[in-house]
Amino acid sequence: DSAETLKGKTAIVTAGGTIERIDSVRYISNFSSGKQGNAIAISLAKAGADVTLVAGNIKDPAPQHPKLRVVSVESALEMKAAVHNSLPADIYVGCAAVCDFRVSNSSDSKIKKESGLDLTFEENPDIAKSVGTLPEGQRPSVVIGFAAETDNLIEYAQKKLASKNCDLIVANNVSNGSVFGKDSNTVHFVEKDSIQSLQELPKSEVATQLVDWIAKQFQGSD
Ligand code: C5P
Repeated sequence: DSAETLKGKTAIVTAGGTIERIDSVRYISNFSSGKQGNAIAISLAKAGADVTLVAGNIKDPAPQHPKLRVVSVESALEMKAAVHNSLPADIYVGCAAVCDFRVSNSSDSKIKKESGLDLTFEENPDIAKSVGTLPEGQRPSVVIGFAAETDNLIEYAQKKLASKNCDLIVANNVSNGSVFGKDSNTVHFVEKDSIQSLQELPKSEVATQLVDWIAKQFQGSD
């Protein structure tokens, strides 16, 4: 493949939706396919990085590459543990659609219809934030989050950049169901002082552009 611009670097990528159990046979999740995260993981590996893909519920099989290790997880709590077990890393890309809430009264056995359903929820930890706000020395030098929004895309992306202490937010508009499961994506690279809007591109090409952006962050630093 192309030049190994990230040789010697380590990366963690999260992909797909998390699954939050209701009982032993039912769950809550979202429509994330994991395609964009998979594409980023493979691009990073092709660029020479040692990649850990922490995969939630993904539709396609996880990509295969000698420099790519896959850790499969179910819930947000498992995803957070897998991410932190995989640290330290130079690069973190949080592409997963982490469920904001989990069922706090989930059942280990199948809930019977006759007993009714009265679910309660508690908030999941913010995994990207937990990585972005790690102390210097433990925090990956490049932390990237995604923002899927239907309104005020750029404004919310800028807020996430700050609150999660990311270096870049890749913002995409998910109104009219135009991203989940599709093979292309229209994204904006939102940094503290700049916004770069890309045209609609295949997810593989978005991944290539992102890897180029990442490689630039390391230029001249080693
Ligand atoms: O806050 P919001 O969910 O819109 O932010 C999206 C970004 O934050 C994504 O990068 C996603 O992977 C990450 N995230 C996370 N943990 C959560 C919620 C979101 O890592 N609990």
